[in-house]
Amino acid sequence: MEIIKVANYEEMSEKACSIYVERLLNLKNPVLGLATGSTPEGLYKKMIEKQNQNEVSFKNTISFNLDEYVGLDASNPNSYHYFMKDKLFNHIDIPAEQTHVPNGEVSDTEKECRDYEERIREAGHIDLQLLGLGVNGHIGFNEPGTSFSSRTHIVELDESTRNANARFFPSIDEVPTKAITMGIETIMESKEILLLASGENKAEAVERLINGEVSEEFPASILQNHDNVIVIADEAALSKVN
Ligand code: F6R
Repeated sequence: MEIIKVANYEEMSEKACSIYVERLLNLKNPVLGLATGSTPEGLYKKMIEKQNQNEVSFKNTISFNLDEYVGLDASNPNSYHYFMKDKLFNHIDIPAEQTHVPNGEVSDTEKECRDYEERIREAGHIDLQLLGLGVNGHIGFNEPGTSFSSRTHIVELDESTRNANARFFPSIDEVPTKAITMGIETIMESKEILLLASGENKAEAVERLINGEVSEEFPASILQNHDNVIVIADEAALSKVN
């Protein structure tokens, strides 16, 4: 695990963007794993800038998002479909049919999970998977206790995760209770993983990610077993790491 320490959120986004630009220029048909949440927003803004400056193009890129709430349709501003269009896809040249976000609106969610796995396999697996970090160690929506051998599946969201995400909803009651997420094994099959963390509220989780025991009780700890992981974290997020 390579740890890159940066001063703040802005520098984290800057550094992450430089890694993306490098990979986009070097891979013929990049397959990107993408995330939502507050963490990658700055990175996405910078990626849009890079494309506007003609430094990169996403025309040959295929993307797969980590997760989506069950029960929110794509036009709901709290859905991850909406987030991705709003923050990235609508502003870059990636063809819509090359973007994938799990569909939490289908009646047969189990089939959607299998199909999602199949689409990732057909694309030749993910070249660079972006991850944020949950305060409870979740990656994607793989909550503590999720099997390390899980594939794309339906999850019951942890109370702490629903609370953390309640800021985007009118009230906690409207935060969905279920989500569809890539599994931990699916994530671990990515050829390279880039995890971003910013802010003091992530400090404990970052400490466990780097120094903690590898355990299903702290899903992100599995990343210690992947041989191509870069963590970019700011000083506040690294404040508990010696
Ligand atoms: C989002 C995702 C989540 C977030 C995590 C951190 O697609 O999979 O695991 O990365 O909850 O969220 P933020 O970035 O909002 O702190």
